[in-house]
Amino acid sequence: MRKKIGVVVSGRGSNLQSIIDHIAEGKLQVEVAVVVSDHKDAFALERAAKAGIATAVVERKGCRDKEEFEDKIDEALRNAGAELVVLAGFMRILTGHFISRWEHKIINIHPALLPSFKGLDAQGQAVDYGVKVSGCTVHFVDEGTDTGPIILQKVVPVLDDDTEESLAERILKEEHKALPEAVQLWAEGRLSIRGRKVYIGK
Ligand code: GRF
Repeated sequence: MRKKIGVVVSGRGSNLQSIIDHIAEGKLQVEVAVVVSDHKDAFALERAAKAGIATAVVERKGCRDKEEFEDKIDEALRNAGAELVVLAGFMRILTGHFISRWEHKIINIHPALLPSFKGLDAQGQAVDYGVKVSGCTVHFVDEGTDTGPIILQKVVPVLDDDTEESLAERILKEEHKALPEAVQLWAEGRLSIRGRKVYIGK
């Protein structure tokens, strides 16, 4: 039986699409049990519906506080039987309230080579800093922001005339490879975490 993942999104959902496409092409052996969005208008929800995937919308404004918001996301994921939570363009910071219940079972894609350029607008930060390479990082989520153990990274050049948008586009192509690759490694049971390090088994 395929392992089940829940994908949590906020917007466009191109990384979700890449997961859906890799599954359809037979390159990723998991089932997306549910897509949870914190925005009812997220395009990611349309992508999920088109692929026949169940969706849930949990909006922060409909919740009393952050704990209730996170409880509802947790509930949607558990009801669907998710064994791994994949944050794919989820634009909110989850607190320990949620994260402690999914220890080493949440992964995130970040559009920079961590630990450089954490947080928002990572591609703009890279252009402004003048680095010559950037890329993306897939990592397990811990209670810090973009600080968890790194599963894999992909590198792209930063060109002299790059704008935030042109760099983001180049990085996104690599994100679309990196995230399914990391999920497949997890599905094959090949990821083990010791301290800060993720070891990839043969
Ligand atoms: C990606 O660049 C991801 O790394 C970042 O937000 C963006 C989401 O894009 N966290 P999409 O919604 O998957 O198209």
